[in-house]
Amino acid sequence: MRTQVAIIGGGPAGLLLSHLLHLRGIESVVLESRDRDYVEHRQRAGMLEQGTTDVLRETGVGDRLDREGLVHHGLELRFGGAGHRVPLTDLTGRTVTVYAQTEIVKDLVARRLADGGDVRFETEVVGLDASAPSVTFRSGGETHTLDCDYIAGCDGFHGVSRPAVPGLRTFSREYPFAWLGILADVPPSTEELIYANHDRGFALHSLRSPQVSRLYLQVSPDEDLAAWSDARIWDELATRFATDDGWKLHEGPITDKSVTPMRSFVAEPLRHDRLFLAGDAGHIVPPTGAKGLNLAVSDVIVLARALTERYASGSETLLDGYSDTCLRRVWRAEHFSYWMTTLLHVDPAATDFERRLQRSHLDYVASSEAAKTSLAENYTGLPIF
Ligand code: FAD
Ligand code: PHB
Repeated sequence: MRTQVAIIGGGPAGLLLSHLLHLRGIESVVLESRDRDYVEHRQRAGMLEQGTTDVLRETGVGDRLDREGLVHHGLELRFGGAGHRVPLTDLTGRTVTVYAQTEIVKDLVARRLADGGDVRFETEVVGLDASAPSVTFRSGGETHTLDCDYIAGCDGFHGVSRPAVPGLRTFSREYPFAWLGILADVPPSTEELIYANHDRGFALHSLRSPQVSRLYLQVSPDEDLAAWSDARIWDELATRFATDDGWKLHEGPITDKSVTPMRSFVAEPLRHDRLFLAGDAGHIVPPTGAKGLNLAVSDVIVLARALTERYASGSETLLDGYSDTCLRRVWRAEHFSYWMTTLLHVDPAATDFERRLQRSHLDYVASSEAAKTSLAENYTGLPIF
């Protein structure tokens, strides 16, 4: 079996790469370890930069996004019992859009299959060779070898691609907290996202639709989900979002609950021979800056452009620059995500001095146009090239 680009992982990065390559006449096969239903329902990201929505729209997978996506022009920072709006669009001219990762994955899977794309679910990769490129995988009880020109490792943080790169240098930071995330069948209590800092910890009010809310609570990294009844979750959220003017949080049935660890991680370089790492396979950010999915998208835009040049002219110049081009944007997002995370969370080990510094920092961001502009510029997304 042979293709031009073997793509390991059918998350947003792998599926979008396959779609972009198809539009440029380049063949690929996507090998995904889970089943279709699982990848289409795994609850994760929700906030898209304008550069991400632009590429989905321009490449013909934006119809439902245009109908159902919720365009946002600002966000709220809430602390000390009061809200402070950051007017993203007034400060940057750009918007962000709430449209769940699950929906992007559904749209991309449907489009690849409608275009005759080869997306194989429930495959197990058992080997890969980055120099005489090939991927060996098991599917339906049989073992196959897929020969190719290039391999794209789009298999997330726990995949097989990154461990196949010898001599990688890695940079990482673990945070002393995690996020407990819920999905609830209740209209959002806010039109714009609320990022709240409270002495008991961080909380985020996001949404999925006019009927569905998505909320997160800072918890400890080893938190036992079983200890969190629905009533306890709503009580804790109400406490952390409380304002002096009596703002009210609407409660409703919780349909999904999970705990996610918080981590920063970068692998360098994002290439070994003919294997390229993209998305969470190469880097992770804590979700406070809403950057992970957007970085996965910008990586594959850069990779698709480089592969297009390679097949059109034989030149490997853009492929040779792939890792450096992506890492510049990755490190900016790493810093912003770290900055948002430390600005808003409560570090259980922080001294009183550090807590006072954090409060001063929050006051500054909430009151300075320059500081808000910097937040807005990073949050709405810096240019891809
Ligand atoms: P993944 O989505 O992890 O996809 C990798 C795929 O590879 C998966 O389908 C997996 O099953 C498959 N795979 C794994 N191993 C193998 C293997 N050995 N063989 C074959 N296939 C394999 N980002 C944002 O931009 N905005 C947000 O608002 C945001 N919020 C978030 C909230 C939470 C709670 C979390 C956890 C994350 C959030 N993110 C956000 C981050 C975002 O979800 C990820 O960065 C994004 O999923 C990365 O996409 P990916 O395709 O690189 O990796
Ligand atoms: C989400 O809606 O899931 C979401 C939004 C913003 C974030 C993180 C997650 O910063």
